[in-house]
Amino acid sequence: MEILLCKDYEQLSRTAAEFVQREIEQNPRCVLGLATGSTPLGLYRELAALHRQGLDFSSVTTFNLDEYLGLGPDHPASYCRYMQENLFQHINVPPENIHIPDGQAENPDQECWDYERRMAAAGGIDLQILGIGHNGHIGFNEPGTPFGQTTHVVDLDERTIEANARFFGHDLSQVPRRAISMGIKSIMRARKIVLLASGSGKADAVAAAAEGPVTPDLPASVLQLHPQAAVLVDAEAGSKISRENPELRRS
Ligand code: GLP
Repeated sequence: MEILLCKDYEQLSRTAAEFVQREIEQNPRCVLGLATGSTPLGLYRELAALHRQGLDFSSVTTFNLDEYLGLGPDHPASYCRYMQENLFQHINVPPENIHIPDGQAENPDQECWDYERRMAAAGGIDLQILGIGHNGHIGFNEPGTPFGQTTHVVDLDERTIEANARFFGHDLSQVPRRAISMGIKSIMRARKIVLLASGSGKADAVAAAAEGPVTPDLPASVLQLHPQAAVLVDAEAGSKISRENPELRRS
C-alpha cells in the first residue's frame, strides 16, 4: 500500500484529481467508484475545474459507495443530492451512466443484488475513491463487517450516526439508522483504490489502517491486501504514520 503524504488539504485534493484524470486519459470509458463525506469535496472541486479546462467525462461511468435507506434523491442529506450538487452538475457524465444505490428501494436486499449486477455488467470498477470514518469504516462497512460481503444493508454504528448528525441539523433523531453500502468484497474488486484522509481526527484510523493488523475490526486495514491501493493523507491525518514506513512518499 503506497502512502502519499501531502502538505495540506489542497495538495491532497489536487493529487487525488490527478489520479482520476490519469485514469480517464488512459481509458475514457473507465468506471469510477465514488465516495461522499466532507473529504472528497476538494477532489470534486478540482475535477469540476479540470472539466472546465477540457477533461471529458462523457464516456465515464460512476458507481457510488453507499446511500442512506429512507432518503429520497431530493433529500438535502441524501448522497444522491450531494453527488449532484458537488460533482455531477459540474461535469458531463451522462445521467444514465451514474449509479447510486436507491435509498427508497421497496426491497433493499434486491437493490443490493441489482447494484452488484450493474457493477459487473459495467466491467467492474477501475478506480475506487474512498474516505475513512473515525472508526476505520470504508463506505458504510462498520467495524466487524466480514471481508467477504458484497453490497448489503447496514445498521449504522452509533459513532457514525453521531459523526453524520452534522448533515442533519445536528439532530440525531433525523439520521437514518440504515444504509445500503458496497461491501468490502465489492470495494476490493476495484482495480485501483485511492483512500483520502484529512485532519487530525483521522490520524489514528489511518495509522491503524496502514500499519496495524489486517482485521475486520478496522475495515480500512483490508487495503493492505490490495495490489494497487494508495492512501493520500494531509500532514495531520498522516501524523501518526511511522516516518520509517518504506511505503511512505511525499507528494
Ligand atoms: C460517511 C461515508 C463514508 C465516508 C465517511 C467519512 O460515513 N459513508 O463513505 O468516508 O463518512 O466522512 P468524512 O469525509 O466527512 O469524514
